[in-house]
Amino acid sequence: MTDTYVAAIDQGTTSSRCIIFNQDGAIVAVDQREHRQIFPKPGWVEHDATEIWSKTQAVVAGALAKAGLGADDLAAIGITNQRETTVLWDRATGKPVHNAIVWQDTRTAALCNDLGGSDGQDRFRDRTGLPLASYFSGPKAAWLLDNVPGLRGRAENGEIAFGTIDSWLIYNLTGGPDGGVHVTDVTNASRTMLMNLETLQWDQSILDAMDIPAAILPEIRSSAEVYGRGTGQLRGVPIASALGDQQAAIFGQTCFGVGEAKNTYGTGSFLLLNTGTRPVPSKSGLLTTMGYRIGGEAPVYCLEGAIAITGALVQWFRDQLGIIQSAEEIEPLAASVADNGGAYIVPAFSGLFAPYWRSDARGVITGLTRYVTKAHLARAVLESTCWQTREVVDAMYQDSGVQLTDLRVDGGMTANNLLMQYQADALGVPVIRPVVSETTCLGAAYAAGLATGVWQDLDELKQHWKRDREWTPAMDAQTREREFRNWHKAVERSFGWLE
Ligand code: G3P
Repeated sequence: MTDTYVAAIDQGTTSSRCIIFNQDGAIVAVDQREHRQIFPKPGWVEHDATEIWSKTQAVVAGALAKAGLGADDLAAIGITNQRETTVLWDRATGKPVHNAIVWQDTRTAALCNDLGGSDGQDRFRDRTGLPLASYFSGPKAAWLLDNVPGLRGRAENGEIAFGTIDSWLIYNLTGGPDGGVHVTDVTNASRTMLMNLETLQWDQSILDAMDIPAAILPEIRSSAEVYGRGTGQLRGVPIASALGDQQAAIFGQTCFGVGEAKNTYGTGSFLLLNTGTRPVPSKSGLLTTMGYRIGGEAPVYCLEGAIAITGALVQWFRDQLGIIQSAEEIEPLAASVADNGGAYIVPAFSGLFAPYWRSDARGVITGLTRYVTKAHLARAVLESTCWQTREVVDAMYQDSGVQLTDLRVDGGMTANNLLMQYQADALGVPVIRPVVSETTCLGAAYAAGLATGVWQDLDELKQHWKRDREWTPAMDAQTREREFRNWHKAVERSFGWLE
């Protein structure tokens, strides 16, 4: 009998990777490449979409070579991606008209403020589940239409295509200007601020408000269906899923039941709670967003606590400050001291996301005395991830009444034991990591495999999930609440830096 394999492409903020899974959901091969981060001005972050496409092709080739497989061996391939990052390209040539504007980019803060007008930040929240913030794609597209000379006219003539990274990759995988399909899935569309969460269609009144021509938009499809077939090295392979990376992670963690949640620790951290087949509005600074939609089945919604900067703070500590040489070094450095020495770091590099949504916030380090060493700062770096997570867990409880009894975690930072222990301490509940912590790729592979009959149903996928390690809280309640209060004092000092 021939083995069945499903591949997934995870196009993330800092790198692209391709993982090939077997029918048991185990990893067969991985390939990964970083791409350039372009910072043209403070607060601006761009990617070269052409580079992203070429790195994607390279990691697909790399993973196939490592596995000793070819396109014919793949039953399907799934796509998962950094969300909100916005590309506009020329339909005739397939070339981007500008660098992609990355989700972390804050250039649209003033535009968002203007769009809110007298209605304020929540002008579109009832329809989209999102507050007006520079994070989301719609205002990024509007900025490009206003700032790339001649673009608006070409867009109105139907010459220009808009896409989040899933659309950009699916278009290129299926042939680019040579018949490539222009689609997105409900999860990625839910991050544009242009899709109505009830109808799952583009909302004309929001398009009008942002002055975005409907002619640029992709067709919205489910997260698991065959959008088209691969070309080139993936000739004939069904392109069979697309999910934003955080939605792919909750799917890969098999959190299919209402009240199940996961936190993924990547560039930022994103805690998603499955709320079932109805959107739950948030009053506590969370996002109401799509979870997934399998073919024609009922869509599943989530509440999300989006934290912009967690792993990226470790990168900053390494690359901009040079205090450590590799990300792994932060753990022994932080473990060399017993506590943070009174120092707190609020990494509001892209403003603060959940639960504050303050574009005017900027990073601060507080509590400095001559006593504080780089080891204390290393601890403060890690602790900031845990307190930000605690804030979104508290907001989840306020919005949904769901009190987490444990937290499923995944992503690169979960290899850091000190961080995971502190996370359990900060939350006061156990933190659990599965054997396959590459849940983002796994989720995309699962959805692609469901769409093509590799796996039959969600119950079958649930059987694959296995616990690897659990951290139980060890901090006394008094210390926990004191540290959390101090964290809040530091957060207040991050507000109001952008006029
Ligand atoms: O919303 C942004 C998120 O999708 C980025 O995820 O893993 O690329 O940092 P990641």
